Order: sequence, then structure tokens, then C-alpha cells
Amino acid sequence: MCGIVGYLGPRPAVPILVQGLERLEYRGYDSAGIAVLEGGGLLVEKRAGKLAALKSHLNGNMAGAQVGIGHTRWATHGRPSDVNAHPHLDCTGRIAVVHNGIIENYQELRQELAAKGHRFISETDTEVLAHLVEEFYAGDLLQAVFKMLPVLRGSYALAVMSADHPRELVGARQDSPLIVGLAAGETYLASDIPALLPYTRDNYILENGEVAWITPGEVTVYDANGSRKSKEVFHVAWDLQAAEKGGYAHFMLKEIHEQPRALRDTLAGRLKDDGRVRLEGVNFTPEEAAALEKVAIIACGTAHYAGMVGKYLLEKLLRLPVEDDVASEFRYREPILNEHTLGLVISQSGETADTLASLREAKKAGAQVLAITNVVGSSVAREADHVIYTWAGPEIAVASTKAYLTQVASLYLLALHLGEKRSHAPWAQEIAGGLKDLPDQVEEVLKLEPRIKELAGRIAPHEHAFFIGRGLDYPVSLEGSLKLKEISYLHAEAYAAGELKHGTLALIEEGTPVIALATQAQLLEKMLSNIKEVKARGAWVLALTQEGNTAVTEEADAVLYLPPVPSILAPAVTVVPLQLLAYYTAVARGCDVDKPRNLAKSVTVE
Ligand code: F6R
Repeated sequence: MCGIVGYLGPRPAVPILVQGLERLEYRGYDSAGIAVLEGGGLLVEKRAGKLAALKSHLNGNMAGAQVGIGHTRWATHGRPSDVNAHPHLDCTGRIAVVHNGIIENYQELRQELAAKGHRFISETDTEVLAHLVEEFYAGDLLQAVFKMLPVLRGSYALAVMSADHPRELVGARQDSPLIVGLAAGETYLASDIPALLPYTRDNYILENGEVAWITPGEVTVYDANGSRKSKEVFHVAWDLQAAEKGGYAHFMLKEIHEQPRALRDTLAGRLKDDGRVRLEGVNFTPEEAAALEKVAIIACGTAHYAGMVGKYLLEKLLRLPVEDDVASEFRYREPILNEHTLGLVISQSGETADTLASLREAKKAGAQVLAITNVVGSSVAREADHVIYTWAGPEIAVASTKAYLTQVASLYLLALHLGEKRSHAPWAQEIAGGLKDLPDQVEEVLKLEPRIKELAGRIAPHEHAFFIGRGLDYPVSLEGSLKLKEISYLHAEAYAAGELKHGTLALIEEGTPVIALATQAQLLEKMLSNIKEVKARGAWVLALTQEGNTAVTEEADAVLYLPPVPSILAPAVTVVPLQLLAYYTAVARGCDVDKPRNLAKSVTVE
């Protein structure tokens, strides 16, 4: 996730671009840059680090420019650096491009373009776009963009400018947001509405496949076939605060809704049709993969619960012993590790102190370390031997949602990768096929939101709640209960459903909410007995299960039906209603959802 802006009109472009980027910094902040047209040529300034670094460098320069594009980056391909920052230029330095999204086939395109003599200077996928426009350019910028789009695979919102077309910008969108702002005599481009609110409230919201040809104060929108389209102007009535959250009441809710996109990006380009995966950044030889004797999963909090899902599935699929630890314990329990151990470290921020220290511990013991993290260039990413990036984009709410889901998706990708390398993955096609369906299934589950809001009203007045599940449902129960605790301050506990009768059952009273996860086909009967146990003690049971599991639905007081996802993939779907349940319970209890008390987003102390 990155932010892009563009301006074309009579006013100085630089302050408008910079202010737009300030408002888009929540979409990414590891580097920023702008390109403007001045004196007949393109001037580009870009800097690694937050936008402040670019701003102090600009220092009032380029004041005469009236057209430009800008970008604030959340690195995916290539670490955060000056050279990888956008905009990117073609070989002539007369075409500049900014891009949000992922070009899945950039490696093939890069090779083809390099063979034709194009020179690349960055590690990004975006740079191919500038060279493709150059390749297709024959005097008409818009036509060059039209010719480029069909060769791209992946997602993009992009803005293109050329020194040879000083009064034009071209924007295009596929699976990443892009809006065109309209005002008298001037036109804007941006990833999101807040960037343009100081200048205009009238926008065209581009749809997938649409291309916008922009001249001062005028916009023509085309569909993917190059036919002109008439579009309705969208007038924004939100205030700035609401606009930054995309119209959602909280960042957490926005991030919950971003999950289909986050999943698509995390799987993009990595999953092949034949069940094989390509994980750049993970470089096991078949011999190294075959020599692995144990996996040690290390993480904290939500990331640890994603890791527990990983334990269940790596053991089940790879038949490889897996341990899981919270990082704060791992370091001090003198774990037994050697060069045949894979240390698997999971961290959204990549900076959690205990996780980082555990990573170092594992490396010292001779283990290879693979990190799953959301932040390119983070400490964990730099120090690990292998990295899988979750392409969730910046997570702003303290309670992790989209990062968790993409960590889980990455664990499936890792299982596929190791299975392939260890030459035993008869399940690969089924898992790969199922993974492809996940973003749509998560979209389906999000439609349960109104019903979940109602159910949250039933839970909110209580002071205690319990989550139960078996097999892969158990770690998801733990994550559901953590979400509820941390944002609603309601005491919640998760139990392996078979454990209840060894103590916890004593806490169940008349009306106690019990959230029962029943998605694991082979464990349904056992789960049913556990539901009956709590019902017999007066619990109010909310069950999450696939449609058709009638015995469960007959027993429960309320049911949320999940799409027909295979048991092994259920954790990537079941967690979403639990996130919404926690969210709406917290709202009903009047809590500060995005900034729960006593907590911080990144825990850099032990
Ligand atoms: C809970 C939550 C935390 C983090 C934990 C680890 O919603 O977000 O439990 O998962 O602090 O943080 P990272 O993943 O940054 O290492």
C-alpha cells in the first residue's frame, strides 16, 4: 500500500503535492518523492524516510512548477532507499511514473526490456512501467499507457507524466484506489479522498480498468478498451477525520475491511496454478529443506497466535515437528536448536524487542531463521536469513487484524514452498486452489457485519466471555479472545474445547457468552459434546460453523455461517467475524477502539 498524488493547473504544484502526501502518509511512510516539470524537463526529488526528510530537502525549490506527481511508499519490491523511492523514470528521463500496487510479472517484463537495452537502476517493480511507456511511446502519452496496460499482471493505481506533454497527466487503476479531483482550471489525482479535501470535494472515483486523461480543469475517462465513459461526480460530504479513515468510524474497522485486498496482494504473483509457489526472499535449496528436522516458531501476541496456526498446519502437512513459543519465554528457556532447525519468526512491525532478541538467539544456536513481517527493511527482516513479506500495508489500529490474516496466508505459502522443496506435497494443489478463493470468501464473511453488530450487543453487557475450539479452531479462538480483551476490556478466555471440563467449566453460569468455533470437519462431533457441556451449565452459545452442520446449529443459541472453506484453510476465514465481534463489542462499551488503554502498536521494550 502506497499513496500517490498528481496536480495540473495554474498554481505552484510542489506545496499541493506535499500536502497531499502528508495526508496519505498513513498509507506508507518509508520514503517519498515528487517529479515536476520545470524549464522543459523533469525534476525529481526523492528521499528514504518519512516525508519530513523530503520536505526539508525541497526547501522551497521548484517553485515555478505547475504540474507534478508524488508518492509516499510502503516498500514491497526493494528496500526503502532513495533509489527505490518513486517517481521512477525511463531511460530518457522524460517520462515519470508513480505507482501503488504490485506488478506480478515485473521480472519477466524487466528481462524483456533489459534485452532491448533499457537500463534499470532500482529494485522496484514500478520501474518497468516507466520503461514500458517509453517503449510504447510514439508521440502520444495516452496511447502509450493504453498499449502498456494489457501487458501488466497485478494491481496498480498509477500516474504518468512526460516532459513532452507539459499539460497532461495520465492515471489508470486496477485493484488499487485512484480518484481524480475536479476544480475550476485545475485537476488532481490521488489514492484517496483526504489528500484532496483542501482543494476539492468533487471527484471521479475510478473503477478497475479505467484510464483518466487529465488536462488542466478537464478529465476524460476511458474504459479498458479505450472507449470514452461518462462518469458521475462524487461529492464528498465527510469531514477530514472521517475521510482519513475512508469513511469508516475507526482505522480498525477500515483495516478489517481491507483484508480481501491485503490477502490478494500477499498471494499475488506467489501462487502458481499448478500449486507451486514463488517466494522471493526465501532461498532454501532442496537439500537444506530436506535436512530440516524441526521448526521453532517465535512471536508475540497476535503474531504468536498466527504462529500457532502455523504449528498445526506445518506439522499436519509437512510431518515436521514444530514448537511454538512466545518470544519472551523462548529466550529464557534454553531451547534446543541446531543447524537443522528452522527458526520461524513472525512480527508485523519487525521491531518487537523480544522477537528480535529471540531471532538473534536462534541464529547464535546455528538455526536458519525465516521472518514473516509486514515492514520491509525492519530489524527482523534485515537480520533473518529468509523473509516473507506480508503485503498488508501499514496497520494503524493497535489491534492487529489484516497483519494477522496475511501472516496466516504466508504460513500456507511457506508450507507449499517447503512441501515442494522436500518433494512431498500431495496436498499442494488443493491448498493452492483454496488460497486463491480466500479473498472472495473473506469478502463474503464481511457481509455478516450487521448480524455481528447485533450479536455484539448481546455480549457487551457481560464481564466475562469464553472462546472454545478444537484443532485449528483453537489458535483462532485464542486470537478472537485477545481481540475482545484488548479493545473492549471484557475479560475473555480461550480454551481448547476438550480442556474445559478440567477446570474452566466451573466459571460458566447462566447467560455466560461462549463463542464456539466449529469448522473442523473431523472434530465436529467432539465439538458438539463440548457445546452441550457449556449449554447444560446455562451458557449462551454463539457458534461459527459452515452451513449444513445442522447438529451444531440446533444446539447453539446463535450461529454465524461461514463459506464452505476446507477445514485446513478455515483459520483464514473464521477470524474475520471474531474481529468484527470484538470491534462492535468495544464500540457498544464506549471504548477507544484504535488506541486501547495501556497498549502501544510496536513493543520495543522487553
Ligand atoms: C494484538 C497485537 C499484538 C501484536 C504483538 C506483536 O492485536 O497487535 O499482540 O501482535 O505486540 O507485534 P509484532 O507483530 O509487531 O511483533
